[in-house]
Amino acid sequence: GTSYIADFRVWRGDTEGGGLEDFKVEVFEGEVVLDIVHRLQATQAPDLAVRWNCKAGKCGSCSAEINGRPRLLCMTRMSVFERSETITITPLRANPVVRDLVTDVSYNYTKAREIPAFVPPPDLGPGEYRMQQEDVGRSQEFRKCIECFLCQNVCHVVRDHEENKQAFAGPRFLMRQAELDMHPLDAAEETGLDRKASAQEEHGLGYCNITKCCTEVCPEGIKITDNALIPLKERAVDRKYDPLVWLGNKIRRR
Ligand code: SF4
Ligand code: F3S
Ligand code: FES
Repeated sequence: GTSYIADFRVWRGDTEGGGLEDFKVEVFEGEVVLDIVHRLQATQAPDLAVRWNCKAGKCGSCSAEINGRPRLLCMTRMSVFERSETITITPLRANPVVRDLVTDVSYNYTKAREIPAFVPPPDLGPGEYRMQQEDVGRSQEFRKCIECFLCQNVCHVVRDHEENKQAFAGPRFLMRQAELDMHPLDAAEETGLDRKASAQEEHGLGYCNITKCCTEVCPEGIKITDNALIPLKERAVDRKYDPLVWLGNKIRRR
């Protein structure tokens, strides 16, 4: 019928090291790459480790690299490849490997914890928050994030530079800071927390040179660079070079 045999190359290994293994697998019409990984587990490699949950592009756990490009295994249709093409599946390159396709994503949780939460406006009670639709819409775009961390993995600042992880929160978490900084009800500044300065000085906003690779891989189509990172950069720069703000800072720091 409509099935064919495809060549797959899958990275197998653990913290000690590993390498690519070749497989021939049957592919049926309408399948996604995760179906093939499951077929491999069912037929040839029962101990192949892969992380997945929803198979609907919503849980963000099946992130891996297919032919070197970060993608969701469950949202990548087999029909995007030539039937004769060898399809190579490797674990996310910017993360330490746990086993096979499963990597340690804890860098992201560390960065998430470093960002102070939304500070509620002191003069408003629950149910009294009012926002312009435009501001709501902006947050909503960022809130579509499924935390697949494909953007975190593709960004060149950390992709081959483990040493930068300390000083760089990555696109997903700089986006979170942008969201909070642009939030009209966030009262962080009143508590002495300057999100712009913190993004710049503690979370490496300056490392981002707007290559937009993060935006290109986002499965939710969030315009990370244009709608979060660039505006945050502009706001941070405005603040730094505004002579009154600068003077204010000098005085306050004494
Ligand atoms: Fe994934 Fe997009 Fe969220 Fe990055 S911003 S973690 S690519 S959903
Ligand atoms: Fe990295 Fe995205 Fe900036 S890929 S360099 S965070 S635009
Ligand atoms: Fe949930 Fe792929 S399995 S996003």
